[in-house]
Amino acid sequence: MSGAVVLLLAGTAEAREFAGRCNTNIRVIASLAGVTGKPLAYPCEVIQGGFGGADGLAAYLQTEKITALVDATHPFATKISANATNACEITQTPLLRLLRPAWEGKWTACDSLNAALNNLPANAKVFATPGQGAAQTLATRPDVHFIMRSIETLVDPPANVTTITARPPFRLDDEIALMRAHKVTHLLLRNSGGSARARLDAARALDLPILMIARPALPAANSVSTVESALSWLGAVLGD
Ligand SMILES: NC(=O)c1ccc[n+]([C@@H]2O[C@H](COP(=O)([O-])OP(=O)(O)OC[C@H]3O[C@@H](n4cnc5c(N)ncnc54)[C@H](OP(=O)(O)O)[C@@H]3O)[C@@H](O)[C@H]2O)c1
Repeated sequence: MSGAVVLLLAGTAEAREFAGRCNTNIRVIASLAGVTGKPLAYPCEVIQGGFGGADGLAAYLQTEKITALVDATHPFATKISANATNACEITQTPLLRLLRPAWEGKWTACDSLNAALNNLPANAKVFATPGQGAAQTLATRPDVHFIMRSIETLVDPPANVTTITARPPFRLDDEIALMRAHKVTHLLLRNSGGSARARLDAARALDLPILMIARPALPAANSVSTVESALSWLGAVLGD
């Protein structure tokens, strides 16, 4: 369809890959929340800073005459995915959620960060990647020490949290070395899925207990788990 405009809710490796593989005659607008200081480059137009809730997003879809919306945000980015579902319903815009598969395996599955924290023994040394906004919650277990890694530098972390600022990808050998250097006894992480699983494999190699925070529920939406399938869906929607 000539003149097609796709709004891509981004912030993930899958979103960048989707943008890079879209047919060049389609105008793709990648949208970032604007929370990362130096976001990786996208091979398309980029907007940043949010829309102002579901109504703001619905207004944007209408004003910019968006043909289709692809929500390729992180599995734990629940607000924007809910907003996308609502806005597409209001405006009758075709919506696809591109959601990478969750990891599968044996671990202690936890419904929330608090549930994971309740599962930790006193004096544990925990390598934790619970998400940028979660550092203060770790203070609720002052008897446990956390090594928390995040992309952005954490401001005022609690006393029981050692921070590491680093950007993926991470190699298995380096993850094992990091866990050994910090005498880590447990791994706490979210079931983000995807290829960034070296910390999970490192914990397995070291036989460490793993506390996995399950994915939050999202409103029902037409979903696929691969970029390939998302491109096929777009082709069908645009009649290519
Ligand atoms: N959650 C994570 O752990 C995580 C990890 C890696 C990457 N990310 C990426 O970081 C972004 C923010 O994640 P989050 O968990 O803070 O989101 P969130 O809680 O679901 O969204 C909070 C608000 O941020 C804005 N927003 C979020 N994603 C946006 C996007 N792609 N484009 C425009 N506005 C967006 C929206 O503001 P308005 O209501 O004003 O539109 C939304 O209401 C997402 O794009 C996500 O893909 C998140």
